[in-house]
Amino acid sequence: MNNLWIRPATEDDAAIITELNDAAFGTPEEAQIVTQLAMDGDSLASLVAHDDRRILGHIQFFRIWVDGADVACGLGPVSAHPDVQGRGIGSGLIRFGLTLMEGAGRSHCFLLGHKDYYPRFGFSAELAAEFGGPWSGPHFMALKLNENGPTSGTLKYPAAFGA
Ligand SMILES: CC(C)(COP(=O)(O)OP(=O)(O)OC[C@H]1O[C@@H](n2cnc3c(N)ncnc32)[C@H](O)[C@@H]1OP(=O)(O)O)[C@@H](O)C(=O)NCCC(=O)NCCS
Repeated sequence: MNNLWIRPATEDDAAIITELNDAAFGTPEEAQIVTQLAMDGDSLASLVAHDDRRILGHIQFFRIWVDGADVACGLGPVSAHPDVQGRGIGSGLIRFGLTLMEGAGRSHCFLLGHKDYYPRFGFSAELAAEFGGPWSGPHFMALKLNENGPTSGTLKYPAAFGA
């Protein structure tokens, strides 16, 4: 895809991000999580991918506490507009966002997602299983971003997840 940029979302993008998530997921829950994370101060990064004309993708990163310490992050939701899925937009947002979180010193990134998609970015269900939290199983995956972080512990998610 030509001329695709990734940048932090602004308040002016909020309505379009909601529309995009509603269209990609077919339910309003993901967009509500994005809005709530921002309201609660639990968002670490909200990024959009756009071309010359419109926003085509969005990714959300948020705080995760490990044994009470605000050291890790979570990824999700991530979406590409249904018209342009399968063209690398989701992958670009994921790789760019993970680099940002690594640079911000976050120890790990956790997510709940498709088990055939996220391992290509290095995510592993085995690593996530070392941590206790609201989710478990093959769809719950983790990626180590920095050394010297915790190797186990109990995860606390932001209130937006109701977990
Ligand atoms: C999942 C999503 C963000 C991926 O973004 P994208 O720009 O379409 O994907 P990319 O072009 O970067 O990557 C394409 C790859 O993703 C895979 N993929 C896309 N959706 C997938 C899914 N639901 N399960 C498994 N793999 C999936 C494709 O099979 C393709 O694999 P290939 O490279 O081996 O052919 C996007 O398809 C989307 O918005 N889907 C609906 C919302 C959603 O499910 N979000 C993720 C929640 S965990």
